[in-house]
Amino acid sequence: MAQQVTAPTVRAAKGGTPLVMVTAYDAPTARIADEAGVDVILVGDSVAMVVLGYEDTLQVTVADMAHHVGAVARARPRAMVVADMPWLSYHLSTDEAVRNAATLVRAGAAAVKLEGGRPRAPVVAALVDAQIPVMGHLGLTPQSVHAMGGYRVQGQQADAAGALLDDARALAGAGCFAIVLECVPREVARLITMEVPVPTIGIGAGPDCDGQVLVLHDLLGLEDRIAPKFVRRYGALKADGVAAVAAYAGDVRARSFPSDAESYHLSDDAAAALGIDRPGAGRRTG
Ligand code: KIV
Repeated sequence: MAQQVTAPTVRAAKGGTPLVMVTAYDAPTARIADEAGVDVILVGDSVAMVVLGYEDTLQVTVADMAHHVGAVARARPRAMVVADMPWLSYHLSTDEAVRNAATLVRAGAAAVKLEGGRPRAPVVAALVDAQIPVMGHLGLTPQSVHAMGGYRVQGQQADAAGALLDDARALAGAGCFAIVLECVPREVARLITMEVPVPTIGIGAGPDCDGQVLVLHDLLGLEDRIAPKFVRRYGALKADGVAAVAAYAGDVRARSFPSDAESYHLSDDAAAALGIDRPGAGRRTG
C-alpha cells in the first residue's frame, strides 16, 4: 500500500516531481481524488461558493469546515488532508486560532491553510508550536475580496511583487511547510519558488511552482459556468449528469423504468395465498 502523504513528505518534495493538490468537500469527491493518486486534498473554504451556493468564501464557519473535513477524512485517503481556516477564525487572537485549528485537526485534517503574509507570521508560529502543520496562501486571497476590491491578479507591479516575496519568506520563516500562490504573474511565482525553501503550489501562477492545485469541480467540469483562464477542464460531468438525469426522467415517464428485473417479487405461495397475479411470474423471489 502506498505511503500516507504527510507535511514532511510535502515539504521534502521541493524542487522534485510537482505536487498535485485538488479540493474535495465530501467522501465521494475525496475517493475520486485519492484513487486518482493526488498528493494533497484541500478541504477549501471554496466549499462556500462551489457547493453551498454562497457569493464568497466569507460565509463559512469553523463548524461548517469541520463538517466537510470529517466527511473527507472518513474516506481515509492516502493523500494528506489540509483544511482551510475560514475567515475570522485566525484573526482575533493566536489562542483562538490554535483552538479553531485544533477543531479542524480533530475533525480529521493533518494540516491547516490560512491566507495572508507577514501579519500572519505570529499565528503561523503559534500553530506550528502547537504541532499543527500550516500551509500559507498568498496572492489572490479570496477572504480579502472586499479589501482587494474584487478578485484580481496580484503582484503585477514591482513593489507588489517584492512585497509578495517578503510575505513568502516570512511565512516560510514562521514554519509553513508549503505556500499556495494564487493568481500572480508567472514570473513572480517563479521568483518566489526559487527564493523560498518550501514548496509553492500554484493556482493561476504558471507552471514553475513546485505543485499545482485546482478546484475539483472546475477540473471535472461539474462546475460549467464561466471559469478563469487558469482552469483546464478534464471532464464534462455537469453535462454528463444532466444527460443521465434526463434519460432517467424519460424512462420513468415512458414506464420503462423500473423493469421487472429491477423489481422484487412475492413467492408463489404468498401470491397464491393473497390470490393475486404475479406480473413477473417465473422469476426468482426477492
Ligand atoms: O479554497 C480553496 O479552494 C483554495 C484553493 C483555490 C487554493 O484556497
